[in-house]
Amino acid sequence: MLVQADVAKGAEPEVDVDVVTLSHDQVVHARDRATGLRAIVAIHDTTLGPALGGTRFYPYIDERRALQDVLRLSQGMTHKAALAGLPLGGGKAVILGDPAQLKTRDLLRAYGHLVESLGGRYITAADVGTTSADMDVVGETTRHVVARTPRAGGSGDSAPLTAYGTFYAMRAAAQHVWGTPTLAGRTIGVEGLGKVGYELVALLLADGAAVVASDISTAATTRADHWTDLRIVDDVTRENIEVYAPCAMGGTVTAPLVDSLSAAIICGAANNQMAHPNVEESIRRRGITWVPDYVANAGGLIQVAGERERLDRDTVTRQVGRIGDTVQELLAGAQRDGICAGAAADAMVAGRLVAARRAQRA
Ligand code: NAI
Repeated sequence: MLVQADVAKGAEPEVDVDVVTLSHDQVVHARDRATGLRAIVAIHDTTLGPALGGTRFYPYIDERRALQDVLRLSQGMTHKAALAGLPLGGGKAVILGDPAQLKTRDLLRAYGHLVESLGGRYITAADVGTTSADMDVVGETTRHVVARTPRAGGSGDSAPLTAYGTFYAMRAAAQHVWGTPTLAGRTIGVEGLGKVGYELVALLLADGAAVVASDISTAATTRADHWTDLRIVDDVTRENIEVYAPCAMGGTVTAPLVDSLSAAIICGAANNQMAHPNVEESIRRRGITWVPDYVANAGGLIQVAGERERLDRDTVTRQVGRIGDTVQELLAGAQRDGICAGAAADAMVAGRLVAARRAQRA
């Protein structure tokens, strides 16, 4: 039996209301005693369309942290979808607990019932702690799921198109900074040789860039052994590089890093790259061009949006390539107005939401 407490609709909240920012359309808490499911779905904004965002399955230390995470992530999805020009809103879900211990077929099916109960206002996908195979199971009890395996009619791994979008974002930043989009002869530092980083290195080498890369996993560096012209280092940020591409964990861009970084551009796929919002101002002062992560890494979202509309791969790939146009527009606007790229992105999102609301009223 699924028990839901719908915070935005005024039911008794399970956590302090002060952490529920009133900017969200709806926040649903749910529990299924039979399977041990405890989940929160946050629908941030549905102005542009149904809220799409992945399900993070994570052992949060308490419910308050889980709520903060899902509120922040769902808001980020509104930004990501709006900047990618998609007819989608922002949402996200978290399942509380250790997936290694708690994830069962029955729990995923119960979670699917929860998603289905929202009537399509929220569409789920895979995220940290969940896989495409899990989404196949979730899809047994809801129609509102994407990022399933190709066998189940889904579009599969989103890393290749995420890397492709990041590559076009980087080319647009190069055009902005150096007046030409090619990365040939440029030295790029790729941090993280995981699913996305690996694909990005392939694209950069094919474009003629000199690439240095780092990864804490020897399995990841070994997989890249076949590229004889790729140089593996301990820390790319200490190298003499022209572009820093964070493709591992978030929070790596700190004020001390900005002070010592040789790169003129920061553009990578890692989510939430800024260690602190103030860091962006240091970046601007040092004259470094930062491409906001939620613009550069939107390829995966564009892919699952295309899956939902049953678009073919070529059409989706073309859409992902247009991330470069958005980056050019964004960087030019930021330069013109003397503001940070993040502030320019915020303004662009606000403009798109206001225009959509106006059109809906008319
Ligand atoms: P992944 O887990 O496949 O790869 C991450 C890699 O980073 C791993 O090989 C890991 O060993 C390495 N790593 C961890 N800490 C490191 C450190 N301090 N220095 C160097 N390497 C380190 O993850 P994936 O899918 O490649 O994602 C990379 C980033 O891109 C993540 O931040 C993710 O949230 C973001 N992203 C991924 C998308 C996707 O479709 N896979 C979509 C949008 C964003």
